[in-house]
Amino acid sequence: MSHSAEPLPMTARRSGALKGEARVPGDKSISHRALILGALSVGETHITGLLEGQDVLDTAKAMQAFGARVERLGEGEWKVNGVGVGGFAEPEGVIDCGNSGTGVRLIMGAMATTPITATFTGDASLSRRPMGRVTDPLELFGCEITSREGKRLPVTIKGAADPVPVRYKTPVASAQIKSAVLLAGLNAPGQTVVIEAEPTRDHTERMLAGFGASITTEVTDEGRVITLTGRPDLKPQPVAVPRDPSSAAFPVAAALIVPGSEIRVPGVSRNPTRDGLYVTLLEMGADITFENPREEGGEPVADLLVRYSPALKGVTVPTERAASMIDEFPILSVIAAFAEGTTVMQGVHELRVKESDRIDAMVVGLRANGAHVEDTEDTMTVHGTGHLTGGAVAVTHLDHRIAMSFLVAGLASDQMISVDDGGPIATSFPDFLPLMRALGAQID
Ligand code: S3P
Repeated sequence: MSHSAEPLPMTARRSGALKGEARVPGDKSISHRALILGALSVGETHITGLLEGQDVLDTAKAMQAFGARVERLGEGEWKVNGVGVGGFAEPEGVIDCGNSGTGVRLIMGAMATTPITATFTGDASLSRRPMGRVTDPLELFGCEITSREGKRLPVTIKGAADPVPVRYKTPVASAQIKSAVLLAGLNAPGQTVVIEAEPTRDHTERMLAGFGASITTEVTDEGRVITLTGRPDLKPQPVAVPRDPSSAAFPVAAALIVPGSEIRVPGVSRNPTRDGLYVTLLEMGADITFENPREEGGEPVADLLVRYSPALKGVTVPTERAASMIDEFPILSVIAAFAEGTTVMQGVHELRVKESDRIDAMVVGLRANGAHVEDTEDTMTVHGTGHLTGGAVAVTHLDHRIAMSFLVAGLASDQMISVDDGGPIATSFPDFLPLMRALGAQID
């Protein structure tokens, strides 16, 4: 569903110590994939801990439109009766993926090698984002694709009747591109190969293996070579979705910068392809301990204990780490403003094509609130002074992570910080406000 509601301005004020437990929602990436792989299996997949954010609900609706039966059983508990690899039916209407780049790109991949036609659309943010990065490799399978100027949505795909397998080297580090190609490869005969120079989140590979596909990853001089054997019988699996490290980042950041705070965030994924923010925070001197490490649903998880950290220092985040924290740079730039010294974020050009141009949105909003920030096409630099003046409204451009980042900043800044529209927070973290308030955050 596209976000068309009236803007929802929100304001965060300097708060007292944050205390308690932050049970953040299920991982967004894994939630999308659980629904899609459930729909591509024959039989019933049972999912617990599913993120019930708008992005994922839009993917659930899309899976129904392609013929799967998707049913909500309780809070975060869903079942999917799938149609099998190659079994998607032609949807009657247009597939609206709302705000979700992951949803639209993965679903385009999942249907591109089935002989049906589907048209995809999304909200104003998604309609600005580049789709060529996915439609170009999908065309190699033999499907026909038309799109708007600049390879933007709406996109119509006439799926390949006789798909051929593809060998594809991703031109940018992107799990969405990798996953779209692998999902298309499911219904192509023979072996589909994706090569990525930098490792990106590997949930698709892990989950495909869990659902019984033959998939291998080899580390070579070229990077990671992922080989999938097409036309498997995917077997339904129970999926326990771990809590989202990208959502956890917001209460974690708040606890680090609000004096006296101490919070616990249980059951957060510590998948190494998602862990870059936490590696960076430890380098900055953050007081975070990872307790009770364990495996849940094929993913490593731990409970995070986070304490106020008054002596954070600036660091350089190298390009090689960018993919493992690609969604966390907005909130890192806030933490960096509260640290002493300069934080340089390198190799971050992909932030320019997220739900908004996140470098621009953060630079403009942080400067308006008194921070010293610079950017180039591919870097963002924050000269931290240990505090933030605040007092200004940040423009969020339909971007949930920009909205949450500035609201967290406002909890520790001298004056309050407002965002023009907090509505999109519901795409990934529908309970952000009650969860933060329960910890003691003053957000209206
Ligand atoms: C995602 C991949 C990343 C990330 C997005 C989720 C995924 O996008 O930013 O929020 O679930 O595969 P890119 O593949 O464009 O880097």
